[in-house]
Formats: sequence, structure tokens, C-alpha cells
Amino acid sequence: MEIRDNILHIGGISARDLVDEFKSPLYVYEEDTIRARAGELKNAITFANKEIKFACKANTNLEIMKVLKDEGMGIDAVSPGEIFAALKAGFAPDRILFTTNNVLWEEIEYAVSKNVLANLDSLSQLRMFGERFPCRDVCVRINPNVGAGHHDHVITGGPESKFGINYTEVDDIKDIAEKYRLRMTGIHQHIGSGILEPEMFIKAMDVLLETAKYFDDLSFIDFGGGIGVPYRENEKRIDIAVLGKMISERFASFADRQGGGGHSVSREKDGLKLVIEPGRYLVAESGFLLATVASIKAEKKHRFVGIDTGFNHLVRPAMYGSYHQILHTEKAENPGVKQVIAGNLCESGDTFTRDENGIVDRDLPLFNEGDIVCLCNAGAYGYSMASFYNSRPRPAEVLVKEGSAKLIRRRETYEEIFTGSR
Ligand SMILES: Cc1ncc(COP(=O)(O)O)c(C=O)c1O
Repeated sequence: MEIRDNILHIGGISARDLVDEFKSPLYVYEEDTIRARAGELKNAITFANKEIKFACKANTNLEIMKVLKDEGMGIDAVSPGEIFAALKAGFAPDRILFTTNNVLWEEIEYAVSKNVLANLDSLSQLRMFGERFPCRDVCVRINPNVGAGHHDHVITGGPESKFGINYTEVDDIKDIAEKYRLRMTGIHQHIGSGILEPEMFIKAMDVLLETAKYFDDLSFIDFGGGIGVPYRENEKRIDIAVLGKMISERFASFADRQGGGGHSVSREKDGLKLVIEPGRYLVAESGFLLATVASIKAEKKHRFVGIDTGFNHLVRPAMYGSYHQILHTEKAENPGVKQVIAGNLCESGDTFTRDENGIVDRDLPLFNEGDIVCLCNAGAYGYSMASFYNSRPRPAEVLVKEGSAKLIRRRETYEEIFTGSR
């Protein structure tokens, strides 16, 4: 994204031209930004035997998944739908991991039928898996008990978490695996999302490495995703090179120790693969939601700028009180006036300038009817969390690169919503 003469351009095209061509509201993604983030991550992880899996829950547009495939990524999928999407985007089954949580047996069967490795997150499912598929490869998700004291919304590890098998139950995992002669090819964790300081990631990594010592057959250790991006203008970017170096060095010395001394992880160091599975980091900053100002309401307390989208299309502010930078696409650098950006849904919580407690005025260039608003950092957990609430179809999605724009998903239609046909 670039501001030239006060005008916002995405992938070299002005926001106005994009909306004129593809209509409003509209999701726009910059291919170059996705590739840049992928490149940074690949360079940052210096350990040679590595795999970066894209956690596609962040964005399941097939064309975006194809870009990441082209960058050499694998896929972390959390549902049969995401496995389907990954296969359709051309990922080989052995590059896909199915990370389960409270899934029905049919879902695991679907993964197995597609030759996709299952990452199981309870002892009961591991037992069921062993009974039905003895002697198979399998992965388990470990809860490293890291995360206590942090905000609920960003924590998927720790005693309150529904995810994973607690690391203290490692003997039970081993017993079940032995009984059914399962080969534990991988162990996995994902402790949370939006991490901007390396320490948390490293702390959890150490727990998983300790746990890894109990398994003989590991081919990989997957440390999950969770790398944050700055959403606020003044937020510090994580130093990805530093994080990558820390992860790689820790992993290398673990692999050295285990491989060298005949300990329980019997593989040679080059045989043990380091896996991470970021979602947000790869795609968040590439995406923008463009919307048109439909109405202005200058009330005593707030100036409401009403736009033609809502939390049905970008739920993060309403759901988490999340901050998204908002830009005026044609007066991008004009001085700010206190305004509230409100959506078009019949819900009072449908505002984009807010925190967890409610609406917050924001200093923004003066908006008027017909202006185009740009909601930034919408590439992760934007469209993939969208719905047709209030029976408003989901927007179209466009991928831009060097001045040309490609429609990568049509705007949803009423026929699709109500009859399931096009
Ligand atoms: C299992 C798993 N892996 C990876 C991720 C990706 O997280 P992030 O987008 O923060 O990198 C998630 C997100 O919830 C997840 O649940």
C-alpha cells in the first residue's frame, strides 16, 4: 500500500479505481506483501531442515493459498473444509497437517482417506485412532501449560485451554501409542496468537523440546504459529530475524544433543524437522477492506460515519475489540477530526472504531458520503471469519500485483445464500 498525493494505492491501483471496477465493499490483497512476509520467514529460520506451514484458517482463498504454495509453504488445516481447500490449491497431502479439536470421527477418517496426517488433541481420540488405524503415523498436540496470566483471547495453551494433551500426560500418550503400535512422527503445540515478543514463543518451545525427549520416532516438531503483526500505527514490529535465529539455534542444539548421544530421539539431526505454522504473519498486512460511506450522522457526542460493511465482513473489532488502522483513500494525509466508523448491521456493537468496552472516537480525515474507507491489516481472519449475517452477501476478493487486479472470488449472491445455487 502506498499513499501518493494524498491518494491510497494498493498494488499500484487507486482504491477508487478498484471499487469502481469491483464494487463496494471489497477485499483487496497485495501479492507482493504476502511474498515478502513468506521470504522474511524463510530467511529468518536458519535451521536447514524446516517447514513453514500456512495456518490457512487465516485466509482460505485458493489463489492466496497458491501464492503461499509457490513460496514453498505447507498447510496447517483445522477442518475437512480446509483440507479440501488445500488439496484444491494443489498442496500435496504430505505437506498438510490436520490439527483437530473436538472433531467427529468422520473428520479424521476424511483426513486419513486423503493421506493427510492427523494431529490429535485428546487421549480419547488417540485411543480411537489406535483402535481403528493401528500401526499408522500420527501426531499429537501438546498443551505445554504455558500461557497462564495472559489474555484469554490470545491463549490456546495453559490450564484453562481446551486444546491439546497436557505435557504431564506424556506416559499415557506413550502407552496408547505402544498398545496400538502407532508411530508418533510428530508432536505439536500452538500456544496463542498475536505474539509480539519472542520470549513467550521460546518459553513454550522449551517445554515442547523437553516433551520431545520421550519420543523415539519423531520426524518433526511443530511449534505452532502465533507470530503477531503490528495493528496500531505506533506498535513495534517483532524482529523476525531475531525470533528465527532464537528458534533455529535452540532447535539445532536440541537436535545435536538428541542425535549425538543415543538418547530417545534417535534420528540424526538433519532428520528431525523444525516446523512452524503461522497464519496472521503471512497474510494480515496484505489485506484491505474497502467500503463506501453511505451516511453521515453528526450527533452531539459523536460524528458517525456509516459505511456499507459491518462485522459480518470483518468481525475482529466487534469480537475482540481489535484495532484496525483506518484510512481515507483520497484525503489520506488530511488532518484528523474525531469520528466513529459504524457498520450497516442492525447491532449497536457494529462499529469499527472501538475497544472491548464500546465505541471510541478516532482522529481521521473528515469523511463524507461517497468517500471510500480503507480498513487495513484485514488479510488474516477477515474474509475467513466473514458471514452473511443480516443476509448481506460476502464481498468480492481481488488480488493485486504491479498495477493489475485479478478477481479471486466473486461477490456472494442471494441465490447462493438462499438456494445454495449460483
Ligand atoms: C493450531 C493453530 N496453528 C496455527 C494458528 C495460526 O495462528 P496465527 O495466525 O496467530 O499465526 C492457529 C490460530 O488460531 C491455530 O489454532
